[in-house]
Amino acid sequence: MTGTNGPSALFSPPAVRGLTLRNRIMVSPMCQYSATDGMANDWHVVHLGAFAVGGAALVVAEATAVEARGRISPLDLGIWSDAHIAPLMRLVGIVERNGAVPGIQLAHAGRKASTKLPWVAGPRALGPGDGGWAAVAPSPIPFGPGFEPPRELTIGEIGEIAEIVDAWRAAARRARLAGFRVIEIHAGHGYLLHEFFSPVANERSDRFGGSFDDRVRIGLEVVAAIRSEWSPELPLFMRLSATDWIDDRPSSRAHRRTTWE
Ligand SMILES: Cc1cc2nc3c(=O)[nH]c(=O)nc-3n(C[C@H](O)[C@H](O)[C@H](O)COP(=O)(O)O)c2cc1C
Repeated sequence: MTGTNGPSALFSPPAVRGLTLRNRIMVSPMCQYSATDGMANDWHVVHLGAFAVGGAALVVAEATAVEARGRISPLDLGIWSDAHIAPLMRLVGIVERNGAVPGIQLAHAGRKASTKLPWVAGPRALGPGDGGWAAVAPSPIPFGPGFEPPRELTIGEIGEIAEIVDAWRAAARRARLAGFRVIEIHAGHGYLLHEFFSPVANERSDRFGGSFDDRVRIGLEVVAAIRSEWSPELPLFMRLSATDWIDDRPSSRAHRRTTWE
């Protein structure tokens, strides 16, 4: 396709590692809040398939939870068991048959887990009496009003952080078996990895908190874990937020913590 300034770069095929995309249009992941027990269904097939039919080059499935307690809501897509693989293969199939590359965003909601569906009125947090569950995070700081303080993840003998890194590894293996060709790590939007990265949510004093290098350690471990299951020929993206959505006036507590670094 050409424009007044010559051929449009939008329709030139970019190469990312061993993949060549048919153009530069990528469909961002979009939560559908339509899964049962994390299983993909007809809704997801139609939703993602339509983008491939429409001509996008890379279609990325929504935030897909690497463990059940990492879901934003009870209706999130999941990839925490081998039983999730077959339904995900249907998404891969519809996208590939229509000329696009199937990607998947792997996610853990951290302290923003266990919330109501976005269109349900009232407080966001989903209490245990309403089918909610206990959230985990780097530090026991609630996301906001109405949220219970999350439980701080341990690194002692139980090694909960190592278990979570392993959950990302297992999810990458399942994504590979399902046939996805791009993985995007969700490390933005205030979810678990972003919580570790940010001094607003991470007040740990062990090797997963404190300095910038320590706060991002879990992200690097997740990348290494996924890469151990993911072909070097295939892209691995990481979605980052460049803001903490906080009041950054000098008088605010969060601002002081950030600028001390
Ligand atoms: C319904 C909906 C669901 C979304 N779900 C996700 C998600 O699962 N993961 C994510 O990283 N971003 C999610 N987003 C953000 C989008 O990926 C995208 O970044 C955002 O819509 C801004 O792009 P736009 O200006 O093209 O809409 C969602 C957005 C919408 C509208």
